[in-house]
This record gives sequence, C-alpha cells and structure tokens, in this order.
Amino acid sequence: RKANVLIDRDFAIGHTDPRLFGAFVEHLGRCVYGGIYEPGHPTADKNGFRGDVLALVKELGPTIIRYPGGNFVSGYNWEDGVGPVEKRPVRLDLAWFSTEPNSFGTNEFMDWCKAAAVEPMLAVNLGTRGGDAARNLVEYCNHPGGSTWSDLRRAHGWEKPHNVRFWCLGNEMDGPWQMEHKSAEAYGAIAREAAKMMRWVDPTIELAACGSSGRNMPTFGQWEDTVIEHTFDHAEYISLHTYLNNYRQDTASFLASPDLMDRFIDEVVALADAVAAKRRSHKRMMLSFDEWNVWYRTRRNRADRVKEGWPVAPPILEEIYTMQDALAFGGACISLLNHADRVRAACLAQLVNAIAPIMTETGGGAWRQTIFFPFAQMSRLGRGKVLRTQVESDAYDSFYYDPRGAHDLSFPVPNVPYLKIAAVAGGGTLTLFMLNRDLMQEMEVSLEARSFGPLAVSEALELRHDDLQASNTRDATERVKPEPLQGVTIDGARMRATLKPASWNVVHLS
Ligand code: AHR
Repeated sequence: RKANVLIDRDFAIGHTDPRLFGAFVEHLGRCVYGGIYEPGHPTADKNGFRGDVLALVKELGPTIIRYPGGNFVSGYNWEDGVGPVEKRPVRLDLAWFSTEPNSFGTNEFMDWCKAAAVEPMLAVNLGTRGGDAARNLVEYCNHPGGSTWSDLRRAHGWEKPHNVRFWCLGNEMDGPWQMEHKSAEAYGAIAREAAKMMRWVDPTIELAACGSSGRNMPTFGQWEDTVIEHTFDHAEYISLHTYLNNYRQDTASFLASPDLMDRFIDEVVALADAVAAKRRSHKRMMLSFDEWNVWYRTRRNRADRVKEGWPVAPPILEEIYTMQDALAFGGACISLLNHADRVRAACLAQLVNAIAPIMTETGGGAWRQTIFFPFAQMSRLGRGKVLRTQVESDAYDSFYYDPRGAHDLSFPVPNVPYLKIAAVAGGGTLTLFMLNRDLMQEMEVSLEARSFGPLAVSEALELRHDDLQASNTRDATERVKPEPLQGVTIDGARMRATLKPASWNVVHLS
C-alpha cells in the first residue's frame, strides 16, 4: 500500500500541554499496594515506595497522576488516609469489594509524586460526600497554615502546603455503577457548588467537571449540556473517558476504534462551545481525557473485578496486553496528540498492575507491558507543536462494538484510513507517530515536510510482532519491544519509510 502525507511547519493544530501525558493511580487491586507502594520489598525506600517501579515510571514519562480514583473516590473519606497510620480506619471499599487499609493516603501520594517527579491531580468525592469535604481537602492540602485543616496537615508532618493545582469534581457520576450516581441536573448543581467553595479556599486551582464516562452512555450529550450549563463559570475542564475493546476479536475494527476517540473529542468540544455560544462567551472549556486505555479482557466477568472475601489489594483488572493492544493504544496516542488544541490533560488509566503499562509481582520483579512503549515514546518525543497532516491513504470499512448493556450494539465505521499519523514539531525537530492498520500489507509512506530546514533521521523505531497475541510476562519481559525501523530515507523535504503490516512506528528527525 501507499500513503502520501503533507505537512507544513506553519500549519499547526496546537501545542501539547505537558498534562497531556498523564496517568492514573487508583486504590484498585494492586495498583497502590504491591504496585507503587510495598514496604518490605527489596527495592523499597524508607517510605515503602518501590524503587523498581519508580524507575519504570520515570522511563514511561507520565507528567501528572490522577488519584485516588476512579470509582473508589466516590466512597472515599479523605480523612481516613491522613494522620498516624496505626490510627487510620480500615474500611470496606464498595467500588472494588475489597478492604482498604488506608496505610497509603494523600500525604504519601504527595511524597510519591515528588519521588516520581510528577504533578498530582486529585479527585474529590462527590458521591457519598460533597462540597464540604471537598473544600476541607483543598484547605488541608493547599492552605499554608493557621486554620484547622491546614494545621492538621502540619501536625501530620507536612509543614509546607502541597499546592495541588488540578482537581477533578468527582468521577463518572453519570454511571449507575458509581456510589451515589446522580442525574446530570443533580451532579451539575453539586459540582458547581463544590467548585465555588474549593476555589474560594484557593483561587489558583483548576477544576474539571465530570463529562460522560463513555461515548456510548445513553445520556451522552444531554449530560454534557446540563453539566456544562451548571459549571461553565466555575470549571476549566470537562472530562471524558474511553476504554477501547476487542471483544469481538475483529482486529481490523479494533485498530479503527481510536478514531471514535477523535469523534468523541470533537463532539464534546461542540457541546462545550454550544454552551459558550448561548452565553456569547469567549471562554473555551478545555477537555481532560482523564481515563483512557484498552480494557476488555478483565472487564466483563465479575470474577476479574471482584475477589470474594473482601481481600486487601486483590489481583483484579490485571489485563495482560498483547501486541495488537499496543497498536490500538498507539492509535489512541495519535488521537490525543491530534487534539492538542483542546485536550489539555489526559490520563492513561492506570499506572501499575490494574489495566496498566507496568506490571509487578508482589515481592518480586517489575516489567513493561506492550502498551508501555507507545506511551513512553509519545511522552518523550511528542512535546511541541502538533501539525495538521493531510493524508492520502487507502481506507477500509470497520465496525464499532458497544460493550455496554445487556445486548451488544454494533455500528459501521466506514472509510478508516490504513495510516493513522500525528506529526509534532519541536525546536528544529519533527517526530512522526505512524500506525499501519493494514494487517497484511506493508505501507510505503511518502511525507513532504514543508517549511522545515534540512532534516536527518536521528531515531526510527518500530513496534511489531509476527504474533499479534504476543505479550510480555514475568518470564519473558522483552518479547515485545521497539526495534530499529530500517530504511527511512530523507531526500530534501521528503521522507520515505516502509511500515510493516500491523505496526506502530516513530521517526524522529532533526
Ligand atoms: O479505571 C478503572 C475504572 O474505570 C475507574 O475506577 C472508573 O472511573 C472507570 O469506570
């Protein structure tokens, strides 16, 4: 196959916000306990933070980490997770039917963020709690001192405020699975009032209201309209979530499915801007794609989500990612980059063990899943000005499978280009992220880069495997990994590369 691409250094979509490269740590399964935190592990530091995991997190390169949930946050009393550990209550977590020991909480998370050199993003509980608990948490975290909650933080041993800038107003409040799920009207009102009070405590914070937990939610659209009407003057962001799936084992359609993230983003932008238009407002709400990933194998069966007997840190949602998952995941990375103008924050859900790029054995080693690589490359090379790409590529027809509800729905997604691409210009550099979605045929890509000076290939990598089901495991940690992409040539302003069938490719020119 052949694909022609035209870019011009002056034709930009927008600049990537550093927060586009975020991830997510929830009190879920072994993400915290046995993941980032495991006192007694051979690599753990004095805080109990696993050093092998920290090293992989630094290589992965997330910039901001959302915490503590997810579904978990909608039943979380933040007060349980601060103060002397031996006095912290043990609670039943109704999100994941496990026992929460609370030995890791907000202050430990702040210390971990420092160790990992990432920004914290905190979600507040707008399920079983409300604006009062939320504003107290802002006071506890961000107020310097001289008030009850800020002095409590100091008494707990954290003298300086944590200065958390980015706050999520609850989690997936449109979902019936959420503790104290709400109507759009009820949630919008609570989010608005919580936002007002939180900002009165600290005017420098940024706030994200909950959008839909998926494009396939029956309330999608109406939910955004109502929630944004309530929160438009009080929040900077509206959130969106997507988990790609290959339930039907239709790989071609699976690789097409990231294109629905593009559509979802465009639709949420339209919904937000419609509210702005009704107000004749110049304000533009930005998007926080604060949960995205591939997730399906451990999603449907209760046994993958719940271990009986209320265990602490059960091994749940431990999705083993394959080569083809990494391809769909790479497509999602491209979708996010190509919306850098409006998606200003995004979180790969999640970070360790639970639907994660990093896996650990409790007491043992840590390794990279297949999806680790596209994310690490995007974070390392995807910073800068995202350029518009004009793409001529053969296309194919696919299906999208809606995994929710008693009966699966599917609808056709026609005309999906075999090549999915993002181009990011840095100071004198150009990086191309390219997904060849043709499962059988190579693709010759010819790309004209206008208005650039002379460019040379400084790095070219491909991620592929003869077996699309190949994965990395404890005993074979490097079965899937990036290898050099041979044969990339530059002739003046034209780059040529041959992409293998079903491959993810990154070419860095400077
Ligand atoms: O990331 C796993 C779960 O997916 C989160 O807790 C929830 O917000 C979403 O449904």
